[in-house]
Amino acid sequence: MNIESVERVYSNYSGVYDLIFGKIFESGRETGIELLDIKEDDNILEVGVGTGLSLPCYPRYCKIVGVDLSAKMLKEAEKKIKEKRLVNVRIHKMDATRMEFEDNTFDSVMAAYFISTVPDPVKAAHEIKRVCKKGGRIVFLNHFMSKNKFISGFEKMISPVCCKIGFRTDLDLYDLLNKTGLKINKKEKVNFFNYWKAVQCINNK
Ligand SMILES: C[S@@+](CC[C@H](N)C(=O)[O-])C[C@H]1O[C@@H](n2cnc3c(N)ncnc32)[C@H](O)[C@@H]1O
Repeated sequence: MNIESVERVYSNYSGVYDLIFGKIFESGRETGIELLDIKEDDNILEVGVGTGLSLPCYPRYCKIVGVDLSAKMLKEAEKKIKEKRLVNVRIHKMDATRMEFEDNTFDSVMAAYFISTVPDPVKAAHEIKRVCKKGGRIVFLNHFMSKNKFISGFEKMISPVCCKIGFRTDLDLYDLLNKTGLKINKKEKVNFFNYWKAVQCINNK
């Protein structure tokens, strides 16, 4: 996977993304947002906001900034923002591994079904830490590689094929956390078969 191929794959998905990945992953998005512990007037960043499926789930009393690589995904998000009059949301086309925001801009950061789609997840997590305030909540909502050797063997085997359709299946949560110095504060199993996790970390800087 590289940035160009990720952008191309998700641009191709944009018209059908909500149909495929909308309802089935909705409960995970809701749990992820709960784990952000949003307070009045908080400034929230969502990296890889895509078509903005999670945007209507945020409380109206916070400000949300969404970034994504794909202009076509963002166009779908823009439609939702207009339709649902989400006046507290702004979106930008931006690479989440090289964001234009200053250090400590956001109170919390949401990465919903994002971190396994990035070619360099460690770089993305470091960048998330940089733009998030110390003590802020960082939530990774994602599928991570199983601890079960049999299942993880299968996940490693199919990962190269899955990369071609936009995500990897062999991302090791603990390796990611070790390399970025992040620690788990809360973790919940979500979606069908509890196969996905909503992981809350507190930004220790
Ligand atoms: C699986 S989608 C998730 C979309 C949305 N968060 C959701 O809940 O459905 C992953 C999104 O991350 C975006 N993405 C991948 N790598 C990125 C990067 N480096 N910077 C910004 N967005 C990225 C893709 O374009 C895609 O829209």
